[in-house]
Amino acid sequence: MSRASNTLTIAIDRREASPIYLQICERFKAAIAAGHLKPGDRVPALRGLATQLNTARGTVEMAYNILVDEGYVQMRGAAGTFVSSSLPGAVTRSAARKSRERADAPRVRRVEQAADIGNDAKPLRPGLPALDAFPRKVWSRLVAYRARSGDVAALTYPDPSGYRPLRERIATYLGLSRGVECVPEQVFVTNGYRSTLELILRSLAKPDDRGWFEEPGYLLARNFLVEAGVRLVPVPVDQEGLDVDAGIALDADARFAFVTPSHQSPLGVTLSLARRMKLLDWASRAGSWIVEDDYDSEFRYVGRPLPALKSLDRDDRVIYCGTFSKVLFPGLRLSYVVVPERAVARFAKLTKSMNAGSPYLFQAAVADFIAQGHFARHLKRMRALYAERRMLLSNAIVKAFGDRVSIELPTGGMHLVAIFSKGRDGLIDDMAIAARAREAGLAVLALSAWYLNGRTKHTLRGIVAGFANVADAAEAARLARLLRRAYDG
Ligand SMILES: Cc1ncc(COP(=O)(O)O)c(C=O)c1O
Repeated sequence: MSRASNTLTIAIDRREASPIYLQICERFKAAIAAGHLKPGDRVPALRGLATQLNTARGTVEMAYNILVDEGYVQMRGAAGTFVSSSLPGAVTRSAARKSRERADAPRVRRVEQAADIGNDAKPLRPGLPALDAFPRKVWSRLVAYRARSGDVAALTYPDPSGYRPLRERIATYLGLSRGVECVPEQVFVTNGYRSTLELILRSLAKPDDRGWFEEPGYLLARNFLVEAGVRLVPVPVDQEGLDVDAGIALDADARFAFVTPSHQSPLGVTLSLARRMKLLDWASRAGSWIVEDDYDSEFRYVGRPLPALKSLDRDDRVIYCGTFSKVLFPGLRLSYVVVPERAVARFAKLTKSMNAGSPYLFQAAVADFIAQGHFARHLKRMRALYAERRMLLSNAIVKAFGDRVSIELPTGGMHLVAIFSKGRDGLIDDMAIAARAREAGLAVLALSAWYLNGRTKHTLRGIVAGFANVADAAEAARLARLLRRAYDG
C-alpha cells in the first residue's frame, strides 16, 4: 500500500528568481532527501497541486516531467504519480547535498560558468563576426574625419535617445531591408542587446512580470533577465520555432515573449508564418509585449532574408531589437530598439532620466558608414564569405566526428550547432566536452547550457561554434581535430 502525501505542503516563493516549476522540483527533491517523502509514496495530483499553489497546471506538469526524467518519481497512469520505489540511498543523500548547494548557489551561477568564454577573439567563438574581413581602413578614415571635424557636438553630452542622423539611417535601413516601418523617433540607440533589454524592462515591466523564453534560448539574455527579476517561462522550440500553443498552455498571461524569430538562438530554425501569426494574435489578446531579437538576420545563405516579425505586427505589440555587433563588430557596443508608438514617450523619458546615450563619435561614424554605401557593400561581402566558412567548418567537424555528430547546415547566421549522437553509455556530457575544448583554447559552448530546464533526457547535447573567423580549410581541420580531442577526453 502506498502512503498518500496529503499532508505534504509545498511552498513556493514568488519573489525568488528561480521559476516556479524549478522551485517545485527542488521542494520535492528536498522532501525526498529529508525522508518526508518515501519510495512508493503518492505525490499530489497535478490539478490539486496547481490549485494549492495557485499556478498553472502546465507549470506543475513541467516540474513532474523533470522529476520523472531524473528518476525521482514515476507516473503510473490513472493510479497516480509516485516517488520511485527504486530510489537508491545514494540518490537521497546526494539530493540532500545538492539541494543544500542549490539553495546556496543561485541558478544563474551555473549558467555564468557554462557561458564563460571570456571576451577575447578565441577560435570558434559563437557570434563573433569575421574580424579579418572588416574594412578597417575605411572605418579609421571615417572615425578620424569625425574626430578632426571640430564639431562641438562631439564634446558635449550625446542625445540620450541616440544621434539623430543615425536614428534616421536605421529607420530607413529597417524599412528597406527588414520590412520594419518606423519613424526615427521610434528608434533608440543602445549599448548592446542587454542594455536594450534593460531599457525595455525599465520602461514597461512591473515587479514579478513573467516572460516566455525560448527553450533552448540565448543564454546571456536569459541570465540577464533572471537577474533583473523577470520570471521566465521556458517554452519549447521545435522545427517551426517557438511552440506558441505550449506557451499559451504554460502561461497565457505572461507579459513578455522574448524571441529570435529569424534565426532561433541557438538552434537556427526560423519561426514559421503560422506560428508568427499565432504569436501576434496571442500578444494582442493578452496585451503582452513581444521582444523580437533580430540579431543576425542579415546573413542568410538560402533564399532571401525573411522580413522581420515586426513587419506583420498590426497591433504594435512587437518591440524590435537589432545590433551592430554582428554586421560591424561587437567592440563598438552599438545596438538599437524600435519601440511601438504607444511606448515612445515612456522610452524617451527613461533614456533622459538614465542619461543614457552612446559616444557621438562612433554613432556619427556608423551613420557615415551607412550613408556612403560601405555598410551595404560589407554585408554583401560577408554573406558570401560566411556561406563559404560555414561549409568549411561543417565539413571539417563531420570529417573529424563521423556519425558521432549531426549538423544541420544553418540557413543563416554565424554559428552552427553540432548535435552529439547518443553514446554507448547514454547521453553525452557536452558541458565536460566544452570545458575541455575551452582549456584547449576554443571558445565553444555546450548546447545543454542554453536550456533553462537544466539537463534532462530531452535536452539536446552538442556544441555551439562560430564559423565566421575560420580562415581556410586547414584551419577548419585543425579546430575540428581539437574539438574531437576534447570529445574523446
Ligand atoms: C541571440 C543574440 N542576441 C543578441 C546578440 C547581440 O548582443 P550585443 O548587441 O550585446 O552584442 C547576440 C550576440 O551574440 C546574440 O547571440
